[in-house]
Amino acid sequence: MQTRFKPTRFALAAAALFFAGQVLAQNAPIKVGLMLPATGTYANLGTMIENGFKLYVDEQGGKLAGREIQYFKVDDESEPSKATDNVNKLIKRDQVDVLVGTVHSGVALGMAKAARESKTLLIVANAGADAITGPMCAKNIFRSSFSNWQPAYAMGKVAAERGHKKVMTITWNYAAGIESVKGFAEGFEKAGGKVTGNLTLPFPNVEFQALLTQIASQKPDAVYAFFAGGGAVKFVKDYAAAGLNKSIPLYGPGFLTDGTLQAQGPAAQGMLTTLHYADNLNTPRDNAFRLAFAKTYKVNADVYAVQGYDAAQMLAAGLKAAGGDIRNQAKVVAGIEAAQIDSPRGKFKVSAAHNPVQDIYLRQVKGNLNEVKGVAIKALADPAKGCKM
Ligand code: BEZ
Repeated sequence: MQTRFKPTRFALAAAALFFAGQVLAQNAPIKVGLMLPATGTYANLGTMIENGFKLYVDEQGGKLAGREIQYFKVDDESEPSKATDNVNKLIKRDQVDVLVGTVHSGVALGMAKAARESKTLLIVANAGADAITGPMCAKNIFRSSFSNWQPAYAMGKVAAERGHKKVMTITWNYAAGIESVKGFAEGFEKAGGKVTGNLTLPFPNVEFQALLTQIASQKPDAVYAFFAGGGAVKFVKDYAAAGLNKSIPLYGPGFLTDGTLQAQGPAAQGMLTTLHYADNLNTPRDNAFRLAFAKTYKVNADVYAVQGYDAAQMLAAGLKAAGGDIRNQAKVVAGIEAAQIDSPRGKFKVSAAHNPVQDIYLRQVKGNLNEVKGVAIKALADPAKGCKM
């Protein structure tokens, strides 16, 4: 005889509670953990990323794939030694659904480690640390920005094409600076140039004088520098004040002149840099973005704002594919992997290692703009050395 399952009242109540919980979780806001610098030399970069992210969300009526967005914030101070504690405030204390950040490569490496271990979705909205989409790559980690190698390698090629043979480099002694200089040397030496000296100082030190004296005495054909934020402002001004820009052209990845031009003034005029964004792309997409950003925040957008905006677009694409269910990570990941991001920089998709495959522009400073001169390398993909997913 067949026995019919007869649920007890208790089982029915438990099931009802369970489904109510599911529905509640489905309708609850998505918790976004913004880990960015709010203090120090990179503070302004953090603000631009946050504003870019929020602009996209606000343009969607405050919701992505029908889900409200709730923000949780931590100031990471661009301090790698505090990265684990800081990211755990978001992961463990606030129980965020997704992490967005940060600017500094050393801090981002700590974030990526914690994201891998906890399987929290992470979208890196600036830091270029090559390892994040290299040996540390993971299904739940994406980048909306660049790898340190990408703009640097392109500048190496450009410097060689401009006829330079001997170039010195100067940077802060941490992951981003070291990898940027290495990427530049790879592009430059492959095209026949030679890097004749590498100068470094600790992050975020801005006492450049002794190093500028060394450059003056060694007289290279050109200098390649990685600095950003407040440090880039000071370096470009000091380089010009020492009179070096008259005889030794200064190149760099675009961080050297992005979001800094007003403060750098005449010292930056005419400088050539390479980056995945420029100020006058003059596409309908970029013009609409720049107008909306300027209206909302009363400042011009820069590369950091674009990266924040695109981090939100990537999250939206993943959520849409998962029907708004952030806990369905496989679908969220597949959604971002398949998406073509309609970025102000130009449309892009991510590589198998989850880093944007993107055009690197050659730009020149004119007034307060990094004007596009051309495309240094089209659809450049990071080599993603050591990435196994
Ligand atoms: C970095 O640490 O990866 C970084 C910081 C500022 C601008 C670009 C890269």
